Amino acid sequence: MTTRRPVLQILVASTRPGRVGEPVARWIAGRAGEHAGFEVEVVDLAEIDLPMFAEPKHPRLGEYALEHTREFSATISRADGFVFVFPEYNHSYNAALKNALDHLNREWAGKPVGLVSYGGVAAGARAAVALEPVLIALKMRPVAFAPIPFVTQFVEGTGDGRRFVPDAEVDRGITALLDALSAELSRP
Ligand SMILES: Cc1cc2nc3c(=O)[nH]c(=O)nc-3n(C[C@H](O)[C@H](O)[C@H](O)COP(=O)(O)O)c2cc1C
Repeated sequence: MTTRRPVLQILVASTRPGRVGEPVARWIAGRAGEHAGFEVEVVDLAEIDLPMFAEPKHPRLGEYALEHTREFSATISRADGFVFVFPEYNHSYNAALKNALDHLNREWAGKPVGLVSYGGVAAGARAAVALEPVLIALKMRPVAFAPIPFVTQFVEGTGDGRRFVPDAEVDRGITALLDALSAELSRP
């Protein structure tokens, strides 16, 4: 009997051109891919390009009027767990992430999520604190937190050649986060 590997989606929350979140998420996806425990997908909110939420019915009903919501629902339904890679904007998380979360409901519910925040001196910690009650409202299960302080110090190169090169401490934090998700997702 073959058992299906759990699908771990790495969600890139920042949507702006030149975002730091993209090389960070790409590095995490690579590291997660080395983890035998996951089938890894990258879900990039810039590519998905959701408009501002405009569903007539509450998402918990799952009766979506708009094609882009149905497509986003199908994408998120595939996931067994997530890593949210998100910046701190004005002491909170970014609006594109809230918009994406608000679009759906049952698709998020019950699923474990690891939080990778980044920013300046506070490493996105205020963004993570602001995000947590939203995750609880959606019945998600935050299982680990890996903050990245002064994130730009870990990004080398320019343009499409940019690479995330974490130090040992940040690397350990993200590795521990992936281990925690793997443990959650391998529970019978
Ligand atoms: C609108 C905006 C607000 C920001 N507010 C904060 C903040 O409150 N705290 C912080 O540490 N960094 C803040 N920053 C800096 C971001 O953390 C930094 O620019 C980071 O690269 C943003 O992530 P991104 O490049 O993936 O979009 C802000 C950046 C922007 C664009």
